[in-house]
Amino acid sequence: MEILIFGAGAIGAFYGSRLAINQNVNVSVVCRSSYQAVKANGFSIKSPLFGDYKWMPTRTFANSSDARRAGVKWDYVVVSTKALPDVSDDSELVEGLIGEETAVVLIQNGIGVEEPYAQRFPSAVILSAVTITSAAQPEPGFIQHHRFTRINSGAYPKDHEKATSKNSVFVDLLTKAGIDDASAYSAQKLQMLRWHKVAINAAFNPTSVLSYETDNPSMVQDADMYEHMKGVIEEVLEVAQKLTGSQLPKEFPTAAQILDNAKKSPKGSYPSMLADWRGQKKMELEVILNNPIQMARSKGLAVPRLQTMYALLRRAQATREQDFKSNL
Ligand SMILES: NC(=O)c1ccc[n+]([C@@H]2O[C@H](COP(=O)([O-])OP(=O)(O)OC[C@H]3O[C@@H](n4cnc5c(N)ncnc54)[C@H](OP(=O)(O)O)[C@@H]3O)[C@@H](O)[C@H]2O)c1
Ligand SMILES: *[C@@H]1O[C@H](CO)[C@@H](O)[C@H](O)[C@H]1NC(C)=O
Ligand SMILES: *[C@@H]1O[C@H](CO)[C@@H](O)[C@H](O)[C@H]1NC(C)=O
Repeated sequence: MEILIFGAGAIGAFYGSRLAINQNVNVSVVCRSSYQAVKANGFSIKSPLFGDYKWMPTRTFANSSDARRAGVKWDYVVVSTKALPDVSDDSELVEGLIGEETAVVLIQNGIGVEEPYAQRFPSAVILSAVTITSAAQPEPGFIQHHRFTRINSGAYPKDHEKATSKNSVFVDLLTKAGIDDASAYSAQKLQMLRWHKVAINAAFNPTSVLSYETDNPSMVQDADMYEHMKGVIEEVLEVAQKLTGSQLPKEFPTAAQILDNAKKSPKGSYPSMLADWRGQKKMELEVILNNPIQMARSKGLAVPRLQTMYALLRRAQATREQDFKSNL
């Protein structure tokens, strides 16, 4: 089996290194800024669950042209770049890597991330995956796994035999590699999970940046912030149920459960959007805020909290980029 991770950063390298534990599975990577480091030394992973280990990918490519030139028939192309449609359409970058038997697996946050792939590769199996794993790449090739491993994946846009079978093989490879809480969802349930994850991201990520860098436990311990975040989560979940025409599964935590849980999160733990903000990187504002806003709007639904945060943050990001350029 041949798997390619396109954008092997924190999440891609973590899951890639686990998939590679399986016998008869070759895992290759496409890297960008970390290419030299990974090509030379592979990845070093530190994990509270799996310990410290090294992983040398089967092949390390600097870009998709190099990957195409290798002429491999990929069983899975896993896309784990940041989802930044305002910067690049990454579906274009994997063109030429998707053959008849290739399933595209998207491990990204956000709503609507699958659509460019579904449009570009209409006959390919598209798998949509949502993870709550917390990981980072503090230095090129160095992956710090913080906590959680859960990943769920399902077909997009709907279930059919080939997609279901590709999905269950992928999930099996993860569970065999020690990711006990990897599990396959139906296409419909996966979309609901995606909305649920976006509800959490939309509440925590923008709020941390807009409140001058507040950590997770402090945000939920502040009564005004708590009320704001509860409002965001409920706004998103309500729209999600209306748009999908289905109820939130009973086992998905409610807004209050999510926020109360976060009270126990470690001091100094921040949502990842804050790291992007601090690092002068683009934030995933389009897929976490704007796509839900546009989808809600197209059905005449109001999402005033999302719209306000999107307007403020998009402007803050643009102003920061201007300042950054004029200081060069
Ligand atoms: N980290 C988490 O804890 C976490 C948890 C849940 C979900 N997620 C989601 O998972 C996705 C991935 O996040 P992440 O934290 O793993 O991001 P990340 O560490 O920035 O990894 C993305 C990687 O993709 C590379 N990349 C981007 N464009 C590329 C291109 N054209 N060619 C080759 N490589 C390219 C980046 O290289 P450069 O260094 O050059 O940018 C980077 O190494 C996001 O949607 C995120 O929201 C993350
Ligand atoms: C890929 O895996 C097969 C079987 O495990 C192995 O024989 C082969 O050498 C691997 N390919 C590369 C490029 O390492
Ligand atoms: C891809 O990376 C290789 C280095 O391995 C470089 O020579 C080539 O110019 C790059 N191609 C593109 C299109 O960036």
